[in-house]
Amino acid sequence: MTEVSNGARSRIVLNELTKIYGSGGGQVPAVDAVSFDVREGEFVALIGPSGCGKSTILNMMAGLIPISDGEILIDETQVITGTPTPKVGYVFQRDTVFPWRTVRKNIGLGLELNRVPKAQREAEVDRLVERAGLGGFEDAFPITLSGGMRQRVSLMRTLIMRPEILLMDEPFGALDTHTKLEMHKLLLEIWNKEKQTVVFVTHDLGEALTLSDKIIVLSARPGRLKEVFDVPFERPRDAVSLRETPEFSALFSKIWHSLGEEFRRTSAEG
Ligand SMILES: Nc1ncnc2c1ncn2[C@@H]1O[C@H](COP(=O)(O)OP(=O)(O)OP(=O)(O)O)[C@@H](O)[C@H]1O
Ligand SMILES: [Mg+2]
Repeated sequence: MTEVSNGARSRIVLNELTKIYGSGGGQVPAVDAVSFDVREGEFVALIGPSGCGKSTILNMMAGLIPISDGEILIDETQVITGTPTPKVGYVFQRDTVFPWRTVRKNIGLGLELNRVPKAQREAEVDRLVERAGLGGFEDAFPITLSGGMRQRVSLMRTLIMRPEILLMDEPFGALDTHTKLEMHKLLLEIWNKEKQTVVFVTHDLGEALTLSDKIIVLSARPGRLKEVFDVPFERPRDAVSLRETPEFSALFSKIWHSLGEEFRRTSAEG
């Protein structure tokens, strides 16, 4: 088991992970030899400009697409494409609630597929509905919900499976600032209790600083690991007041500089 200084073991290890899409003349190098570890209970943010391979990395971690080179280990076992593990939950970049299912039926989907008895399923769904502040909307269809409410449904639908490892791909990317802060509060509350091991993709530096223990900055495409920053703010954190501290501003400026170079490279290419 890989041990690190604070004693927590590494749950996820990426070794020189590489992805090239396509073949022959149409090759698109998306991810280039990215290596990092995520420890048990750690909250890691992956940040980088659009198209730098963030979703590609998560999709490989979830075993959804094949890797081109290198390896991914979860609990020392290689991730094999097409064999997802129940330990891993994935909140996708796009809002993936099913429009024809009610809030209750969206959140309970995984338990239904696992043939969990109805009474147990409903008790668990009720608990998560409550936790997500969706009380009163159990029988609503997604079209009648706001974007933030739909994202809460997506999040709860993943959490109900009690994943130990949570992959989240810009889950709050489409939300306005206020709703986003509400979601940060909710996620911090849940994570403080359950301490999942999290890889959270974002291109919002404020969001990464609010939530994570460590920020991994990727370069413009093909994504290479550019720099890793520790986020030493005390926990539990308050998503709003943290942003008003001088420590937050100082770290924001430092990382912004590193990230800004990559955003400029992307816009120069585009
Ligand atoms: N299925 C695919 N076939 C070919 N190229 C792809 C495929 N999926 C992604 N790409 C390319 O790989 C690169 C990385 O894409 P990816 O979606 O991982 O980026 P991202 O960092 O998640 O971007 P965003 O922040 O916009 O979501 C992009 O140039 C994209 O066009
Ligand atoms: Mg993406």
